[in-house]
Amino acid sequence: MRVVSGIQPTGNLHLGNYLGAIRNWVRMQDALAEGDRAQAAAGDSAANSQCLFFLADLHAISQPHVPAELKRGTLEMAAALVACGIDPSRSILFNQAQVPAHAELQWLLGGTARMGWLGRMTQWKDKAGKNREGQSVALFTYPVLQAADVLLYQASHVPVGEDQKQHLELARDIAQKFNNDFGETFTLPEPIVPPQAARIMSLRDGTAKMSKSDASDMSRINLVDDADTIMQKVKKAKTDPEPLPGEIAGLEGRAEALNLVTIYAALADMSAEAVLAEHGGQGFGAFKPKLGELLVETLRPISARFTELLGDREALDAILARGAAKARELAAPTLTATYRALGLVG
Ligand code: TYM
Repeated sequence: MRVVSGIQPTGNLHLGNYLGAIRNWVRMQDALAEGDRAQAAAGDSAANSQCLFFLADLHAISQPHVPAELKRGTLEMAAALVACGIDPSRSILFNQAQVPAHAELQWLLGGTARMGWLGRMTQWKDKAGKNREGQSVALFTYPVLQAADVLLYQASHVPVGEDQKQHLELARDIAQKFNNDFGETFTLPEPIVPPQAARIMSLRDGTAKMSKSDASDMSRINLVDDADTIMQKVKKAKTDPEPLPGEIAGLEGRAEALNLVTIYAALADMSAEAVLAEHGGQGFGAFKPKLGELLVETLRPISARFTELLGDREALDAILARGAAKARELAAPTLTATYRALGLVG
């Protein structure tokens, strides 16, 4: 198994990133390490699954940015991932910019990807809005770089939130067309989307996803928010006057209520049905403080570790440099095979 995934190093890591993706990264990392240990103990020398997690700094330049902030954001996101449980001695943690093969493969896939495929991407449509002509070329070709990110390592599994599924399907389409046109070169990657927390929504609007680009900080829980801020944000989260129903069907048409139940369920590792069986009949005045406490408890150790890690910038630089060296090594055979398949080298 080869697990690969990335996150843009812009803004703070928020609850949507954590529950939708990062927690799954950590779980897959831990499960694979355990599986490899068991296989090795049974004498199987082929036990070599691998996890690669990266900061998508090359993707971040597809929209206006401040260079010094990107540099700082990259280090902060690296610290946040380690604080969440990504272990640099078991997973390969790096930033794209230190592995030129990502940008190279993107160009090589550019002959295979189709304008029509890219034009149908909902993220492109959402971000470009009515001003398509005014967008950067990089925002349009963004999903080709994302395809390169995973195909470069022959990724078998890609843990992401629901919003990235379409990009992964495109990566599969690109891989399939390339393999058809030029011979078997790439593994088709499988998206892994958590059933419980595929889409965590804004605390201010249950129909919009929780996002770092939302202008209102009250719309999201950041992993570095302190206890008071978290309790305030949950208290002020939009809800309706009805009490919680006893069954999931009673949440229909109540997007904000559903979101809070989903968050509770994901944090407590329960199903939404089980949360409602326990809390059905309660009003939000009673449910919100319990949700707030669960959030504070979950995030407190992460936030403490994050602050500690940020204090040692050299150690973070070293983690990323080591990760990038390993990633460059793993990327080399596929990059060479791609040049060869295209007739660019002998
Ligand atoms: P990004 O940085 O927007 O988000 C990182 C991860 O967090 C998930 N996520 C969410 N999940 C549930 N609810 C939410 N509200 C929520 N918001 C974000 C995302 O689905 C993602 O898994 N293009 C990617 C980064 C990327 C990448 C890749 C991912 C670049 N190359 C290759 C996978 C494989 C992005 O901008 O994610």
